[in-house]
Amino acid sequence: MNSCQPIGVFDSGLGGLTVLAALRARLPGEDFIYFADTHFLPYGDRPESFIQARGQAIAAALVERGAKAIVVACNTATAAAAELIRAAIPKPVVALEPAVKPAAGLTRTGVVGVLATTRTLASGRFQRLVQTYAESVQVISQACPGLAEAIETEGPDSPRVQALLDEYLQPLARAGADVVVLGCTHYPWVRAGISARLPEGVILVDTGEAVARQVERRLQGESRLGGHGQLQLATSGNPLQVRETVARLWGSFLPVERWQI
Ligand code: DGL
Repeated sequence: MNSCQPIGVFDSGLGGLTVLAALRARLPGEDFIYFADTHFLPYGDRPESFIQARGQAIAAALVERGAKAIVVACNTATAAAAELIRAAIPKPVVALEPAVKPAAGLTRTGVVGVLATTRTLASGRFQRLVQTYAESVQVISQACPGLAEAIETEGPDSPRVQALLDEYLQPLARAGADVVVLGCTHYPWVRAGISARLPEGVILVDTGEAVARQVERRLQGESRLGGHGQLQLATSGNPLQVRETVARLWGSFLPVERWQI
């Protein structure tokens, strides 16, 4: 088997670029294909069966294009489809979920806030995560409908994003959460805006680095690390628009292909 195959990464849109950044920082020699399912953004308010079908189709398409491993860079897709993807794909599949476990270990007030999509918070997987790792703390789950989409389509500094952050952060600030989990990969793009609405010292946790470490472990274990540091971007949406959004969020203009999946 060829080690120099790319690692396939996907999200409903460009939230997963926050995970890709951590992956590239940890594994600069690897090649990556990032697929943004922009045409179907947001996943967060869609039926589970829809997300399952998309997750499976995208993972299969990435493998078809040579991916040696799949990273599900989307909490919502993980909650709905990670197990199905694992069952269908004979490659390492690394998925992510809200960092409830580390947050429960970090809190001093005993109150942990979780920001995520409606679909993630409603999933059995999330319920089990809380039962297993956060029984002894109070978990305030705040669904954020519209936020991921607004970050991407209107920009992190847009009035719409600011209004949604005002609305969604207030309950966490009121409850005295001292650790807040960024349970959607889009939310690190508005980290500063989230911090500004919480008391000083509140810790924000996301999963990018943990996922990167896990990918490294898995590929090292199979002696499959290797590549040329290349990055390929693809989308189900409008590639020119995606290119603009990538430039705004990521800071550089990169070519984007359109894939029909
Ligand atoms: N970025 C995704 C996540 O981590 C979901 C955003 C959406 O499509 O609703 O959950």
